[in-house]
Amino acid sequence: MEPHNRFISLLVVVAAAAALACETVRASGSTSDAGSDLELSSLGRQLLAAAREPEFFGWLRSVRRRIHERPELAFQEHETSRLVRSELDALGIEYKWPVAETGVVASIGSGDQPWFALRADMDALPVQELVEWEHKSKNDGKMHACGHDAHTTMLLGAARLLSSKKDSLKGTIKLVFQPGEEGGAGAYHMLREGALDQFQAIFGLHVLPHMETGSVGSRPGPMLAGAGRFSATIQGKGGHAANPHVTVDPILAAASAITALQHIISRETDPLAARVITVGFIEGGQALNVIPEIVRFGGTFRSMTSDGLYSLKQRIGEVIELQAAVHRCNATVDFMEEKMRLYPATVNDETMYGHAKGVSEALLGESRVHLLPMTMGAEDFGFYSEKMRTAFFMIGMKNATLGSDKALHSPYFFLDEEVLPIGAALHAAVAISYLDGHTGGIRADTVR
Ligand SMILES: *[C@@H]1O[C@H](CO)[C@@H](O)[C@H](O)[C@H]1NC(C)=O
Ligand SMILES: *[C@@H]1O[C@H](CO)[C@@H](O)[C@H](O)[C@H]1NC(C)=O
Repeated sequence: MEPHNRFISLLVVVAAAAALACETVRASGSTSDAGSDLELSSLGRQLLAAAREPEFFGWLRSVRRRIHERPELAFQEHETSRLVRSELDALGIEYKWPVAETGVVASIGSGDQPWFALRADMDALPVQELVEWEHKSKNDGKMHACGHDAHTTMLLGAARLLSSKKDSLKGTIKLVFQPGEEGGAGAYHMLREGALDQFQAIFGLHVLPHMETGSVGSRPGPMLAGAGRFSATIQGKGGHAANPHVTVDPILAAASAITALQHIISRETDPLAARVITVGFIEGGQALNVIPEIVRFGGTFRSMTSDGLYSLKQRIGEVIELQAAVHRCNATVDFMEEKMRLYPATVNDETMYGHAKGVSEALLGESRVHLLPMTMGAEDFGFYSEKMRTAFFMIGMKNATLGSDKALHSPYFFLDEEVLPIGAALHAAVAISYLDGHTGGIRADTVR
């Protein structure tokens, strides 16, 4: 994976952290379709207590540490996928594999509709871990620096909680273990293979190092940006720097094009809409007295809406080509969509958001459920947003004493493993109560 992919992948929490003035969401009674507060909190408490039992918690930690020690990059998650399958086998849970190379889609429940999905991503980053601890990455240059080892483990934890209730589930819960979130559009490939056809809704969790362990946060509507990237080549005619008139200067053309790109934001975009174009690299020429033949530059563009993203893409192509033409140069603009599809914005469905928020409040208490600001970070969960009802929640993992407050994608990223039983219980509670809510309310027999 190229280093600049990392910008496109998850969550620029460094930037978001400052803005994370977490506003507490006030409960608005029980507007969710998840049943009464009392029943929900009893279900939540029971699931959380089960996941915190020493044997269960020990198993979660061991699964997570095994994954952490053997990080694998996008679409190479063979060992991780094998570990997931062997744990599912041990639980007697059926699954479909391979989906999109290493992906696994497991199924728990009656097999009937509704089909409700929980999602985890399995890939690691090309980062050398710099935390010295017993379970440090043993794969040089690769690290679970974005917490996907925790995501995978929390979903396996949910699998175990759900399997003990499989006979009382009022529908089917699908567990989606996907490859390639970090730039590889794994979610797109899972969808393209039809593995999520007929799913009604999907819930995903992502760890967040700037929010305390034991809290979660999200927001209704747009949450994370859609993102794309581009690389431009401007060709002129090189020559002696003292005789510009017999050359065609691509440096001046590139300078104009780059400046004009920012006018797309300042002059064509509603000031109240969020869009970004950043040119992150530029290269061309080597000598002080030579006009080069070619200049290359490129970067990323982002928008909170898919329309905005496609419009940016179109205008970036036009502006670079036409600015090059003004300067008598030729330009080509490559959006590299073969390697990395445009990531759509992650947009939470209002009903699904309300449902997951209600379950979170019941599980953790109202004061621990936060309304998060939008950020221009991106996540391939956006592909699911385009196909079904989605809710994507961040789950806190900060314990400053432990040092688990280092940014995502940092080589010092360090997980507070206390998040594992919380995430497992939240996944399971969101899924069970969704099924209950879609078959006429919570029944006493799911709350044992
Ligand atoms: C631009 O492309 C045209 C058509 O291929 C070619 O004739 C021309 O020489 C090119 N100009 C430059 C500056 O590369
Ligand atoms: C943070 O981690 C330390 C060290 O593991 C632990 O003693 C402490 O209880 C944790 N704090 C919270 C609030 O969980």
